[in-house]
Amino acid sequence: MTIGKSILMRMFGRPKGSLGRVGGIIMARMNRKVAAWAIDLLGVHPSDRVLEVGFGPGVGIQLLAESASSGRVVGVDHSKDMVGQATVRNAKAIKAGRVDLRQGSVERLPFEDESFNSALAVNSMQVWPDAVAGLREIRRVMKTGGRIVLAFTRHSGQPKSGLTDALTAASFTGVRVTETDDGFCALATKP
Ligand SMILES: C[S@@+](CC[C@H](N)C(=O)[O-])C[C@H]1O[C@@H](n2cnc3c(N)ncnc32)[C@H](O)[C@@H]1O
Repeated sequence: MTIGKSILMRMFGRPKGSLGRVGGIIMARMNRKVAAWAIDLLGVHPSDRVLEVGFGPGVGIQLLAESASSGRVVGVDHSKDMVGQATVRNAKAIKAGRVDLRQGSVERLPFEDESFNSALAVNSMQVWPDAVAGLREIRRVMKTGGRIVLAFTRHSGQPKSGLTDALTAASFTGVRVTETDDGFCALATKP
């Protein structure tokens, strides 16, 4: 890995230490618009249980908690520093028991099968070690008929091509890819 790429990974891909914390501050500003759009597409109901993987600084979690106002929002992120930033950002909702944030990895989610109505990942899948394995694990913890949205900003490094194949390989159906000037999203359903 080049030095430039390793700095970017430390700031954004798997945020760690002071570089990671600065990365979190930048992501919280830059990625809010795409996160809000993705959550709109997800169509969250007030009583839903929603999972976000790779929540970073926790802006998506905050917006999800506004939508799932009587439900529960659960997040899993690989980075201890991002769990810290997102915990500060969502302190009130965590205290109220409406948000639960965990450090962990998409490869092994600490939840029972069929736990969530819907799932979201914003600018995260491109850095998972195995995207299809991660999607299969998300599918396992989603309820039948549940919806997933994978969202990416233009600077995420994720190509738009291949999203449909990855979701189909993980046994999601009804895949639809949609885009705006800011980024693109793939939506699919657990049949
Ligand atoms: C580019 S950041 C995106 C953060 C946030 N969603 C946003 O758009 O601002 C990628 C996030 O995915 C997390 N991540 C990377 N690999 C992961 C994995 N295998 N499992 C869970 N989270 C992971 C990172 O720790 C990081 O917080």
